[in-house]
Amino acid sequence: MPDFEIRNIDHTDHAWITGFLTEHWGSPLIVTRGKIHKADTLPGFIATYQNKPAGLITYRIERGECEIVSLNSTIENLGMGRALIEAVLAAAGGCKRVWLITTNDNLHAIEFYKNRGFALRTIYPNAIQVSRKLKPSIPEIGFDGIPIKDELEFEYLL
Ligand SMILES: CC(C)(COP(=O)(O)OP(=O)(O)OC[C@H]1O[C@@H](n2cnc3c(N)ncnc32)[C@H](O)[C@@H]1OP(=O)(O)O)[C@@H](O)C(=O)NCCC(=O)NCCS
Repeated sequence: MPDFEIRNIDHTDHAWITGFLTEHWGSPLIVTRGKIHKADTLPGFIATYQNKPAGLITYRIERGECEIVSLNSTIENLGMGRALIEAVLAAAGGCKRVWLITTNDNLHAIEFYKNRGFALRTIYPNAIQVSRKLKPSIPEIGFDGIPIKDELEFEYLL
């Protein structure tokens, strides 16, 4: 049995979610494909470890497609990331596909999604230039000192 649990977000989580997204992404506003998403208002799941929130996934459903807007696990390699993804795949049951955007610097996430059955659908070169106009706090340099430039779209067909 894992040491963590996955549960639906409920209305009492809002302050924690806003703080958590701000800590990890600079703000609860997440930009993908030139659109701003208020991730703290979206549906999602929380992973709790020893009864404390330790991971979060948010998603949105539009026209039969489910986008994972944010995913963070603060206690890595326990299977929390995988479990959060599986919760969204189950919630997206009526959709054609689940998709998400990550950035070219996030090599760990790219590997992680590939290992979860997601396939690289499209690369949008230099798309982060557009995102920075909407969210200027997006840093120039990302994981492993790699400049953040491109959006990578991964998808999981249901
Ligand atoms: C990407 C991220 C969500 C992964 O979360 P995680 O909780 O470590 O995910 P998991 O534990 O499910 O899987 C991580 C790895 O541990 C392995 N693992 C899973 N359960 C395990 C266990 N019980 N023991 C040892 N290893 C385990 C998995 O096989 C996986 O390895 P793989 O990707 O090479 O297959 C996390 O690293 C993160 O929050 N990163 C920063 C934010 C980010 O980049 N988010 C995505 C942006 S789009």
